[in-house]
Amino acid sequence: MIYLDNAATTPLRPEALEAMLPLLTETYGNPSSAHAAGRRARAALDEAHETVARCLNGAPREVVFTSGGTEAINLAIKGAAWAGKAHGNQIITSSVEHHAVLHTVQHLEKFGFEPIFLPVDRYGRVDPDQLDAALTDRTVLLTVMLANNEVGTIQPVEELVARVRRHKGILIHLDAVQAAPYVAIDVQRLDVDLVSLGAHKFEGPKGMGALWMRHGTTILPQQQGGTQERYRRAGTENVAGAVGLAKAFELCTRERPETVGRLRRQRDRLRDAVLRVPGVEMTGHPRQRLPGHLSVIARDTDGVSVSLALDLEGICTSTGSACTTGSTEPSHVLSAMGYPDEEARGALRISLGRQTTDEEVDRATEIIPETIARMRAAAGDLAADPLGQEVGA
Ligand SMILES: Cc1ncc(COP(=O)(O)O)c(C=O)c1O
Repeated sequence: MIYLDNAATTPLRPEALEAMLPLLTETYGNPSSAHAAGRRARAALDEAHETVARCLNGAPREVVFTSGGTEAINLAIKGAAWAGKAHGNQIITSSVEHHAVLHTVQHLEKFGFEPIFLPVDRYGRVDPDQLDAALTDRTVLLTVMLANNEVGTIQPVEELVARVRRHKGILIHLDAVQAAPYVAIDVQRLDVDLVSLGAHKFEGPKGMGALWMRHGTTILPQQQGGTQERYRRAGTENVAGAVGLAKAFELCTRERPETVGRLRRQRDRLRDAVLRVPGVEMTGHPRQRLPGHLSVIARDTDGVSVSLALDLEGICTSTGSACTTGSTEPSHVLSAMGYPDEEARGALRISLGRQTTDEEVDRATEIIPETIARMRAAAGDLAADPLGQEVGA
């Protein structure tokens, strides 16, 4: 099997598993317990906070561990919206966000919040001038993704932040779940208030995430219970998960420059081969995009069928977001980028990962273009002869 769906999830890296195992077996104490077993678990949890903070250039107490990217996003958006309700009710986001953001913002609409979904260009980028025009004295939050999961486009975050900072009292949340493995996140330089991470995108454990929140930022906790995570996220902590996330994030941060260079080379090789097939075009930004991410539209094909055909050849890919697989709805991302449903149907996402080898890319470079070409030819035959009759029969 050649796994080229790293935007959906990545394998747990062995170093993270190794770091987690003692926390699941020997060091099983509750970090809130005062005894030795509890203190050992607390020390491991504290170290995980320190590691994640170091990778982001933040402070350990600014890190809140969660059950994944989705929970971090919910905590950031709902927490910031409710905390800011006295000042305003407007939340600005983009129309290409992950459902974890879109559905959370839409949910808040039921409680009197007013969402604004900024349009994007053909490449999936928000225009900073349009953000400028949308900002009002009722705006309490901008929530935007650093990189898009379906088309890999990286948003011009620095310019967007600069526009928001001309106003007072607006919080900025960055959904960095998809970007974190490949884009360095320095929270001081980026000047944001909240950053969401999901461990399984950078070879950490699934069901584990983190929200970084700048010291002094007020958010309303979204679950009530104990005093864990400095009152911001109640519930006994998943210490093993936090340690696994921290280990994976630390290694990913250290190796990032080398990983990015290799992935870019591998992706470009695959891209050149795939784009040689007639009727195939790349979606998303040609340069401002994640390094191992290749998203295309193959005209006159159905992405689901192409992805299934590739699966039969032993290659795992997807049509877009893993969260919408099985849905017959066209991608909201491609739709916002201006692709008609008929074209968006042919979407295919190929996402390489740190563990992808050159040999796998060699094989994929042969199989993927061949499969797409075959599917296009079959679709053409069907269109010309829908009943499958022999020509001339
Ligand atoms: C951009 C983005 N945001 C949020 C999420 C949700 O993260 P999680 O799967 O950790 O809940 C994903 C996952 O695909 C994502 O790509």
